[in-house]
Amino acid sequence: MEIELMSESVALETVPSDAVLGAEIGGVNASAPLAPDVFQTIDDALKERIVVCLPGQWLSPGQLVTFGQQFGELEPHVLSQYHHPDHPEVLVLSNVVENGKALGFRDAGSYWHSDLSYKDKPTKYTILHAREVPDVGGDTLFVSGYAVYEALPNSLRTRVSGMRAIHSYAFRHEQMIAKNKLRAPLTSEQKRAVPDVSHPAVRTHPDTGRKALYINPGFTKAFDGLAPAESKALLDDLYSIALRPEFSYRHNWRKGDVLIWDNRCSMHLADGGYGEDQRRLMHRVTVRGTAPV
Ligand code: OGA
Ligand code: MN
Repeated sequence: MEIELMSESVALETVPSDAVLGAEIGGVNASAPLAPDVFQTIDDALKERIVVCLPGQWLSPGQLVTFGQQFGELEPHVLSQYHHPDHPEVLVLSNVVENGKALGFRDAGSYWHSDLSYKDKPTKYTILHAREVPDVGGDTLFVSGYAVYEALPNSLRTRVSGMRAIHSYAFRHEQMIAKNKLRAPLTSEQKRAVPDVSHPAVRTHPDTGRKALYINPGFTKAFDGLAPAESKALLDDLYSIALRPEFSYRHNWRKGDVLIWDNRCSMHLADGGYGEDQRRLMHRVTVRGTAPV
């Protein structure tokens, strides 16, 4: 009995945040292949807590790719101009401009969204590695789609359950260009890579079997089959519930954090709020998921 307790005490510990999602697992070495029990601990934590932080990592772009591939097939982002030059699976996010050239994608995710929800097979996991972080600000906020779904009034839950919504990268990109003149228009090849898609507004998570609200202000253009005004009113009603603080977790980044999150049951936002004199540099990979049902 004593011996069992000892061996358990040295095992990795998943420490949940105070919020309805979010956890941290210390003591993982993400630069080496994950032992099966370590992988299992991370995977279990993702199922339970949606967002999981592995602090204190230092991964080269190649190591980030190798780490990510243990969770599935990686999918490069449509904005190829922000791919890491040696590793197209790695998207570089940064506000830094060096010698007149942007180091990365500056305003990525500055609206509530779920990664690649505009694809037929949206992202399963995103893995974001903090290389440089501002002293203040630069947090990322997350919302649990399970918690929101479960909190919906019965009538609203029933209404939205049978519906589908259109997700569109072009819709979001055009709005971002209007705000940020430095954003380049999509090339015709990029446009072809991201046609609008339709997904169920409530999806069942393939691993947990739980239902989650699956719409987001960033990429969800409208409900399928509703008049524009009716669609907007319904989206606004749902977002006013989804964005209640009790469903969210705020991640305050430390240099070296590797954050993994499950996009099938959550949305997130780059909160910004740091000065232009501050540097933020993140490397990201995304793991392809399956068509939502
Ligand atoms: C992302 C994203 C938010 C951030 O990498 O998918 O939305 O705070 N990032 O950088
Ligand atoms: Mn994102």
